[in-house]
Amino acid sequence: MKSLRTSHYILLGIALVFVNCGGGTEKNAGRKNQAQEYAENTKLEKEIGQRARSMFQPLPALAENPANPVTPEKVALGKQLYFDNRLSRDETQSCNTCHDLAAFGVDHKRFSPGDAGMDGDRNSPTVYNSALHSMQFWDGRAKDVEEQAGMPILESDEMNIPDEGFLIRRLKTVEGYRKMFAAAFPDDPDPVSFENLKKAIGAFERTLITTSNFDDYLKGNQGALTVAEKKGLKAFMDVGCVTCHTGSLLGANMFQKFGVFHNYWEYTKSETVDEGRAKETGNEPDKYMFKVPALRMVSNTYPYFHDGSVESIEDAIRIISKLNLDRDLTDEEVVDIAVFLNTMTGEIPSEFSRAPDPI
Ligand code: HEC
Ligand code: HEC
Repeated sequence: MKSLRTSHYILLGIALVFVNCGGGTEKNAGRKNQAQEYAENTKLEKEIGQRARSMFQPLPALAENPANPVTPEKVALGKQLYFDNRLSRDETQSCNTCHDLAAFGVDHKRFSPGDAGMDGDRNSPTVYNSALHSMQFWDGRAKDVEEQAGMPILESDEMNIPDEGFLIRRLKTVEGYRKMFAAAFPDDPDPVSFENLKKAIGAFERTLITTSNFDDYLKGNQGALTVAEKKGLKAFMDVGCVTCHTGSLLGANMFQKFGVFHNYWEYTKSETVDEGRAKETGNEPDKYMFKVPALRMVSNTYPYFHDGSVESIEDAIRIISKLNLDRDLTDEEVVDIAVFLNTMTGEIPSEFSRAPDPI
């Protein structure tokens, strides 16, 4: 597909040369359109190519952590745990229930019911590429995926395990786990531990990277994005989304207020007002501060915002532009930006979402 697109532009160039060399009127009109598109692409490429490549970076193949090197044994164990309902008290749910790897790493629900049937109060973000975030959760209260992995297990409105010992005793009764933990942590005399469980799940998540056409473009393949997609990329940069959404993830590297210019709940129609980081720190300046979310795969991870209050990506774009740039986008700009954001979804390798055989 990508190389097809490149050759498409080369062909267009050749077509241009022949554009005045006869044929019917219809044929000429088609050539004119192609010629126009070729010219538009050249112009856009000049305007945005270099700028985009300095602002965004392609995703790495793996999200490495020197404190928890990724090994095949850890990844296999982490995947087994990720899909295992025994990580919840009544054995009703796994990590995959709320972060379904076959559904872009989310559950598409506004809020997710936990093991005890209670709803949480924030929307489930995708786990794809999350190991690359500078901090975890909407309010950044965990530093990395290893620290994060232990938290939902013990949360009463999530997996509801009463304490670490409860889960470790349960896992130690499973022969398959005793073997897998020993293989993943060969130097540990007591390998089945909560610390090692967090490391194994973290190592698995570090492999969940999803590259897309946008990465090919950033690596220099000018044909990886269409003219319409480049127009959207230009709008995304020109209107100022890049004040906050930059880097390889287009976000996830800073905190910003949700609603710099207006109260967010008046636009999102949120039922409750979440104070963001202030809920954690109690500090006034942290009120309504949230992690700028990554925009990788964002077209597919609806509903949007920390409380899942907005269903469509077009509405989300319109609202965040008003709230954080005080700018009313035109319908054309909204559509262009949505078309660009869609280039952030690539094909997801099927081995990521294939559930392991139960042990
Ligand atoms: C009941 C649903 C539910 C279950 C089960 C669950 N999560 Fe989550 N997860 C959430 C919600 C909701 C959030 C956001 C909470 C917040 O930010 O305050 C979240 C956040 C995360 C994040 C942070 C992503 C980001 O963008 O900041 C990661 C990573 C994650 N979960 C991984 C896991 C793993 C691993 C498991 C299994 C051990 C798990 N989750 C189990 C609902 C769930
Ligand atoms: C001043 C910083 C800032 C600017 C500028 C900004 N955003 Fe955001 N964006 C955020 C923050 C913070 C959130 C998280 C809001 C929340 O849900 O709490 C967010 C959320 C989003 C979401 C929802 C993501 C999800 O997974 O739910 C999208 C989509 C988005 N922004 C796109 C854009 C676009 C497009 C622009 C430009 C028109 C833009 N943003 C400008 C800070 C910013």
